[in-house]
Amino acid sequence: MSMADVRRLVDGDGGRFIYVAAALAALNGLLFGFDTGIISGAFLYIQDAFVMSPLMEGIVVSGAMAGAALGAAVGGRLSDRLGRRRLILLGAGVFFAGSFLMAVAPSVPVLVAGRLIDGVAIGFASIVGPLYISEIAPPRIRGALTSLNQLMVTVGILASYFVNYAFADAGAWRWMLGAGMVPAVVLAVGMLKMPESPRWLYERGREDEARAVLRRTRQGGVEDELAEIEETVQKQSGTGLSDLVEPWMRPALIVGLGLAVFQQVTGINAVMYYAPTVLESTGFGDVTSILATVGIGAVNVIMTVVAIALIDRVGRRALLLVGIGGMVTTLGVLGAVFYLPGFDGVVGWAATGSLMLFVAFFAIGLGPVFWLLASEIYPLSVRGSAMGLVTVANWLANLIVSLAFPMLRSSVGQSWTFWLFGACSVVALAFSYRYVPETKGRSLEAIEADLRENVGTTPAGAVGERSDD
Ligand code: BGC
Repeated sequence: MSMADVRRLVDGDGGRFIYVAAALAALNGLLFGFDTGIISGAFLYIQDAFVMSPLMEGIVVSGAMAGAALGAAVGGRLSDRLGRRRLILLGAGVFFAGSFLMAVAPSVPVLVAGRLIDGVAIGFASIVGPLYISEIAPPRIRGALTSLNQLMVTVGILASYFVNYAFADAGAWRWMLGAGMVPAVVLAVGMLKMPESPRWLYERGREDEARAVLRRTRQGGVEDELAEIEETVQKQSGTGLSDLVEPWMRPALIVGLGLAVFQQVTGINAVMYYAPTVLESTGFGDVTSILATVGIGAVNVIMTVVAIALIDRVGRRALLLVGIGGMVTTLGVLGAVFYLPGFDGVVGWAATGSLMLFVAFFAIGLGPVFWLLASEIYPLSVRGSAMGLVTVANWLANLIVSLAFPMLRSSVGQSWTFWLFGACSVVALAFSYRYVPETKGRSLEAIEADLRENVGTTPAGAVGERSDD
């Protein structure tokens, strides 16, 4: 590819520019994944470097999740106020500052401050990545482009496992944590060249700029899309937050909050953050456990690619239901595997296989579908704030599960812990079947119009009367 080609791509030639914008914004996902995954390895060496109480250890690990809940709490409103693009730029700066502080931390309090700051950036990124992409993408490929963000979350986690592995011999935890500065710089530099979300611009009365962005990112149909956005903006009854408590918003809030919590209480991060520990308990050595964990991370990436290929064709509901169904089954098997008396080696491999299958089912369902729906089912006037709310719920649930997992393991045992996740998955399945609408191929404005008219969409994707009340 020549420089001229690259320039054309970055300056916008309708069709392809949208992929560049989405890929750059998806670096938010990469940072989210990398910065959450890296601690699993770095922590081993931080423990050697500082004297810490068990409580302090917990604070070092979960500080980022607490920061992320905080970041998500203010990030939604900030994205409505500042705009999506400016929040991404701000987030990249915060990522850089947090990673830098952790890398040079002379003491535990400074390290915790770094984790918290980094967490705030993770919280911003988890909202504004999917939000920006879903608002700039054409409906036809919105699911795939928005899920690029989730793909990058999984790539970030896998990359963090590799970085951990690379620096493990040297015990270089400062380099592990500082490595997050690199994607933060790429994100900032790249976003400087990208446009603001056309929907946010329009809502702010900046119609000409919105039109210009649509021209840059569409091959046609710009005026139709603008007219649709205009209609939605004019229909707005409340100003921002007051809409959130309107009765017509309730179904969308139930779906968002439900999926946010179910995404976590079904146990994904027990695997993402603790897989090496779980595998060691089956008799695997250090190196085998870390390598098996890399394999699990790779399955997560591959199955997310499969989800992206399918999500705009078979739809969100089908993937979600198949995914959660598979999680129920594999969690049942996992509990059973740990229940069996240990046959050297066999249990370890059976556990690795079941963990891989569990992660595969998460990756085609709850992983991408939660973030996608959260970015598309809320009305424009409150989209940032509503997404902020469900994202806070997601991080709080994450915090609780990742803090509780070690305690659950030691109190009720590994089998019952996985069966408990399995029971939560059964409820998640029933919930999704009952409440989750299909949004495939529809414009964000059409989704909003349905919500206002108090109709959902049938599982088949056509508009119909879901008698939710
Ligand atoms: C979840 C994270 C999880 C990741 C794993 C994301 O969708 O929100 O909590 O670690 O998927 O791929």
